Amino acid sequence: MKSNKKIKNRCLIILLTLSAFLSAIPISGCASSSPIAQEDTGHENLAAGRTQPIEITSEAIDSCQITIPGISREYNLLFLTDTHVIIPETSEGASQEIKDYSSQRLSEFAGESEFVSSDLFTSLLSYANDTKPDALLLGGDIIDSPSPSNMEFLENSLEKLEVPYIYTPGNHDWTYPWEYMTETAANDYLPSLSPYMDGNTAIHTLELEDFTIVAVNNSSNQIDPDALETYKTVLAQGKPVLLLVHVPFYTPSLLEEASDLWQQSVVLGGGVHGGTYPNDVSAEFMGLTTAKDSPVAAVIAGHVHFPHISNMEGEKELPQIVGDAGFKGKATRIHISP
Ligand SMILES: [Fe+2]
Repeated sequence: MKSNKKIKNRCLIILLTLSAFLSAIPISGCASSSPIAQEDTGHENLAAGRTQPIEITSEAIDSCQITIPGISREYNLLFLTDTHVIIPETSEGASQEIKDYSSQRLSEFAGESEFVSSDLFTSLLSYANDTKPDALLLGGDIIDSPSPSNMEFLENSLEKLEVPYIYTPGNHDWTYPWEYMTETAANDYLPSLSPYMDGNTAIHTLELEDFTIVAVNNSSNQIDPDALETYKTVLAQGKPVLLLVHVPFYTPSLLEEASDLWQQSVVLGGGVHGGTYPNDVSAEFMGLTTAKDSPVAAVIAGHVHFPHISNMEGEKELPQIVGDAGFKGKATRIHISP
């Protein structure tokens, strides 16, 4: 309760979670009101190469607010994470293992959303093009695996984007279960995301007039060692920073909710409480982020598939916005005011 009061008073963050979100999405060309029927229709369409247009309305997007004192104007960011796009794998060059995995994952996600995740992703990008946020933040697990068809879809989708974007890798974007965090995955799949990450999957930035958004890869559950030194130079610029990561950092309330859902560690930090123990690089990174003189104004993360706002505790309390999963049709609008 004390923590909530601080968030309201000191961070001015408001989260409007819209409980009946999916029912608020008008669907073109789908007359059925049965979730199962819509889901089946969508997946049949996907298999047949057709797409299911979904209109995303502003009312359907979670919303929160951050203040960054001293900035020259208001900003609107759109945050999209964990869309887990799965395109049925038909490439001749793809192994049977990849084809089978795509098929298996597509049917697994069919039970978690009324809509095909690729349709939702396409619709959310159209929403971004229509509403023109100052930037689109992609929080990782945008694709469910680095399969050839998923990568092709990703490239084609991002080519159509008409607003600046910044994309931090999620664990699913560059791994398969049989190559989870392996050297092969790091050497063969992670670099494929590089064109969408300014040539550097460990850390890259998007400069806006009044602040810098820095995307850091912590999708292995630790901060990438290559990112730490660059991060120090970004923090030293004297400009406010928004930090975009895939795996959220430990806060007591987030860990409690995440542990109930996942029954395993899905936050970085808070090892003694059930989170992941940070290694030396991660501990230094987190200390810099929450240092008394840190220019970081907020952390934005995904990974846990539910929305949550709380404060990281360090020398200063730092708001952390965790976005709901895009495969459920969710996105978060982040309004930033002086
Ligand atoms: Fe995810």
